[in-house]
Amino acid sequence: MIHRRSFLLSTAALAAYGTTGQAQAPMPGMSDSPAGMGAMNGGLQAKPSGLDLPQGEPLRSLSRLHSASTQPGSFVATITAAPTTIEFIPGLRTEVLAYNGSVPGPLIEVSEGDNVSLHFANRVPGQDSTIHWHGLPAPPDQDGNPMHPVASGSDRTYAFKLPEDSAGSFWYHPHPDKHTPEQVFRGLAGAFIVKPKVNLLPDLDDTILFITDLRLDGEGVILPNTESDWANGREGDHILVNRQKRPVLNVSPGASHRFRFYNACNARYLRLAFEGHTMALIGTDGGLISEAVKGLTEILLAPAERAEVVVEFGPSAGRLSLRTLPYDRGSMMGAKLSAVDTPIMSIEIAGPVVAPILLPSKLRDIASLGTPVARKRITFGEQMQMQANGAMSFEGRIDGKPFELFRVDLVSQVGETELWEVSNPTDMDHPLHLHGTQFQVVERERYGSASPEPILAWKDTVNVARGEIVRFLARQDMPGLRVYHCHILEHEERGMMGTLSVQ
Ligand code: C2O
Ligand code: CU
Ligand code: CU
Repeated sequence: MIHRRSFLLSTAALAAYGTTGQAQAPMPGMSDSPAGMGAMNGGLQAKPSGLDLPQGEPLRSLSRLHSASTQPGSFVATITAAPTTIEFIPGLRTEVLAYNGSVPGPLIEVSEGDNVSLHFANRVPGQDSTIHWHGLPAPPDQDGNPMHPVASGSDRTYAFKLPEDSAGSFWYHPHPDKHTPEQVFRGLAGAFIVKPKVNLLPDLDDTILFITDLRLDGEGVILPNTESDWANGREGDHILVNRQKRPVLNVSPGASHRFRFYNACNARYLRLAFEGHTMALIGTDGGLISEAVKGLTEILLAPAERAEVVVEFGPSAGRLSLRTLPYDRGSMMGAKLSAVDTPIMSIEIAGPVVAPILLPSKLRDIASLGTPVARKRITFGEQMQMQANGAMSFEGRIDGKPFELFRVDLVSQVGETELWEVSNPTDMDHPLHLHGTQFQVVERERYGSASPEPILAWKDTVNVARGEIVRFLARQDMPGLRVYHCHILEHEERGMMGTLSVQ
C-alpha cells in the first residue's frame, strides 16, 4: 500500500512540478534575441494537416520477423532498411523509411538463451545507419553504436547471445552519428521481445502497443525538423498505436489483459490512462518487476521507456478509451508539448464473460546491485548558439560538452557497481538512456529533498525532470565503448550524448 501510494505520488509530483516549480531563468543567449525569436517562432507555425487519418479500425498486430534457422535456440534473419510508401491517408502515398517494408518494423520475438544473428542491409539513400538493440545486453561492437556505422548500400551482421534472465520488452532503431531522429520519425523502429524460459505469469492475452507519432503536411509528406523541433524535440500531430490512429481492441468482459506499452516517439511524453480502470504495473524497461504494483490510474512514459501492465476489464460490456493525459515537460519559446489530452485507442468490451485471472504475488526475483564502489556524475545542459545567418540553434550538452565520436568521457570497470547521479538544471525534462546494461533507480532529489524510488526495477531509460537529480546503480559486464544520452532524439543528435569506456 505504501509503495503504491508513493508511486502514484511520484507520478503526480512529476506532472505538477512543471506548472509550479519550473525554473524561470531564460536560457543563455536566448532571452530577447529577435533573430532567435523569429527563427523559433517560424518553426512553431508548422501548419497542421487538414487531412486526417482513418480512425476506429480493429487494432492490427505487428508483422513478425521470421527466423531462417530451424535449429532450436538460434534466430537468424535479415533486416533491410529502405524507403517505401504507405497510405496513412487513403489515396495519399507517404514516403517513409521501413524495416522490411513495414512500419513499425517487424516484431522480433526470441527467447532467453537464444543465439541471435541479424543481417542488416542499409538501403537508406545517402545516409549511414545502424541497428541499435535498445536495452539488450549486446556486446559493444554488436550494438549498433554510432562508432560502427553501416554505409548506405552496405551490409553487416549483428550477432549476440541473450543471457538467462533477460526476458523483457526491448526495441530496435537506428543510431548513426547523424540522422538518427530523422530515420526514426520516418519509420525505422520496431519491438524486440525476449520471452522467458519459465513463465511465472498465467497465460494472459498479451498485446504490444508500439506508440509513435507522425506529422504529415497537407500532401501527406513527412517534413524535416524545424528549429523548434530541434530545441524541443519533434512531436507529431497524430499519435499512432501499431501505426494506427485510435484503433479499437476487442476484449471479453471479465478478462485480464496484459499490455506492453512502448514510447517509441522521438520526444513526446505519454501519460497513459484507461478510462475508469486502474492498471497493475508488472514490468519496466528490463522485464518483470518482483511484485505487481496495483491500482495505478496512470503511467508516465518518457521517450524510449516501456511498461508492462495488466488491466482487469470487469464483467460489464462497454467502451472506453486509452488516453494520454497532458504532461508538462518544459519547453522553449512557448511551444505546447505533450500537452493535449488525447484518446489513442478504444477498448470494446463485448461478448461472453470470462473468469478473471489472478496475478501471482511474486513475478520475479530482482536482486539489488548492491553497494557501489565507484561514482559517476553527469549534468545535462542546453545552449542556444548564434548561427552565421543570425538564427539561433539549439545545442545539447552533457557536462558542458557536445558529443564527439570516439572521445571517451567516462571510464568504468567491468563488473563494478557504480552509483550514477544525473542532474538536470535545464528548462526541459530529459530522459537519460545508458547503453549496455539495465540499471536500478534508487533515489530522486528535488529542491534538496530526496525520495527513495518506491520499486526495485530494471531500467535502461529514466526521466530526469527539470530541477531533478536522479541516482541509480549500474554495472557494465562487457568491455568496450558505450554511449549515454538524452532519448529525445533531437537532443541526442544535437550533442546531448557522451561515451563511456568500459575496461
Ligand atoms: Cu534507444 Cu542510444 O538508444
Ligand atoms: Cu539504447
Ligand atoms: Cu533532452
